[in-house]
Amino acid sequence: MSNKTIKIIDGDTEAEFPLMEGSEGPATINISSLYSELGYFTYDPGFMSTASCQSTITYIDGDKGILRYRGYDIEDLAENCTFLEVAFLLLYGDLPDASELTGFEDHITHHTLINENLKDLFSSFYHDSHPMAVMTGVVGSLSAFYHDEIDIHDPFDRDLAAVRLIAKLPTIAAACFRRLRGEPFVYPRNDLDYSSNFLRMMFAQPTADYEPDPIMAKAIDLLFILHADHEQNASTSTVRLVGSSGTNPFAAVAAGIASLWGPAHGGANEAVLNMLTEIGSVRNIPKYIDRAKDKDDPFRLMGFGHRVYKNHDPRATIIRKTCHEVLAKLGDHGDAQLQLELELAMKLEEIALQDEYFVERKLYPNVDFYSGIIYRALGIPTNMFTVMFAIARTTGWIAHWIEMISDPNLRIGRPRQLYTGPTERVFKPANDR
Ligand code: CMC
Repeated sequence: MSNKTIKIIDGDTEAEFPLMEGSEGPATINISSLYSELGYFTYDPGFMSTASCQSTITYIDGDKGILRYRGYDIEDLAENCTFLEVAFLLLYGDLPDASELTGFEDHITHHTLINENLKDLFSSFYHDSHPMAVMTGVVGSLSAFYHDEIDIHDPFDRDLAAVRLIAKLPTIAAACFRRLRGEPFVYPRNDLDYSSNFLRMMFAQPTADYEPDPIMAKAIDLLFILHADHEQNASTSTVRLVGSSGTNPFAAVAAGIASLWGPAHGGANEAVLNMLTEIGSVRNIPKYIDRAKDKDDPFRLMGFGHRVYKNHDPRATIIRKTCHEVLAKLGDHGDAQLQLELELAMKLEEIALQDEYFVERKLYPNVDFYSGIIYRALGIPTNMFTVMFAIARTTGWIAHWIEMISDPNLRIGRPRQLYTGPTERVFKPANDR
């Protein structure tokens, strides 16, 4: 905390507010006593200038294109770590040593099964339900399985909830996919790593052996790392707000999944592929660029722009390279649609990056512009893309939930409002209205 204060003068009255300095990034004015001192609230829709909490987990510098988990550059983590190594880092603050990593992997591996009764819940959904709707319901239902035994004030219980969530999300996600296809659920296997196990639960058939492709598993693991956390984004803020009431962590994470689903957030990678399908041909790109620039047209270039990154999205830079590598390594399996989508994506990127409208507004391709193409290449259907994001982001959500619940100064999140509705009105019974 610095000794600096910011003074607000309101006529004859003045009040000083402490300036809080973090380890990096802009300083923050602590206005928590503004109302008691001056009788005002602040107004900041979309939280454009408001820090909702203090956090030690993730640092972003949007202008410089920096993303760090617990101080480590995302580029280093993406290059050198597995997803579970990164999950350990996010949860516990430091990278694990070899024995800590083995212990953590073992712990996660032994919590991947879900309660058999959940199968009934899956079958109660309509056959073509969106997998994100099913995920929201199923993850929320975990709070029914693990409620009485969780004391959110006990660090051991919090840790167990974190491990259960990270372990079970891939099993639930794969079950959503199998259900969608009318295929039997595939149980997790303890001899496989996190991402290979996920691929097996997604694609294995009971009638044949299944060997997860190491290139596919590595690409999935990388995408999980890149999506694991992103400080106070909409879904993480949702988990924090919901969790601040002291609710069950599985319910809070289900709320995070619901928030992630929206096309302005995690739904963007699905929207990118839908957009590429709609564009259909390179010659149609200029028409869609014009539509994106037209204020009277709600169409936006999906996968472009970011609330925080106004230079480049470092995740997009890493993933762009992987996108090309995966496609080159998997080879052209004669999937003309996939090749067209990639060609369209590259052309769209090239044109938009030179267009004055996008350059002026600093609208660069974000992580979701490329992640969808990789998922497509791996055989994951479009409506599962946000589910993939949810598997990864669960680690970030639960790390933030733990950080928040462990804070001795935790208070329920309760924003204020600027009321603009009617002032007091005289009530009349129905017959007199
Ligand atoms: N296409 C066309 N115009 C755009 C786009 C776009 N994708 N994004 C922003 N703009 C324009 C916007 O109309 C505005 O123009 P003007 O200043 O003339 O009014 C200006 O750029 C600033 O946009 P904004 O909506 O005020 O920016 P924001 O920070 O509120 O929104 C965003 C950020 C990500 C919601 C937005 O850029 C968007 O909708 N992008 C497409 C959806 C998408 O790809 N979302 C994934 C985000 S990355 C995944 C994640 O981290 O969750």
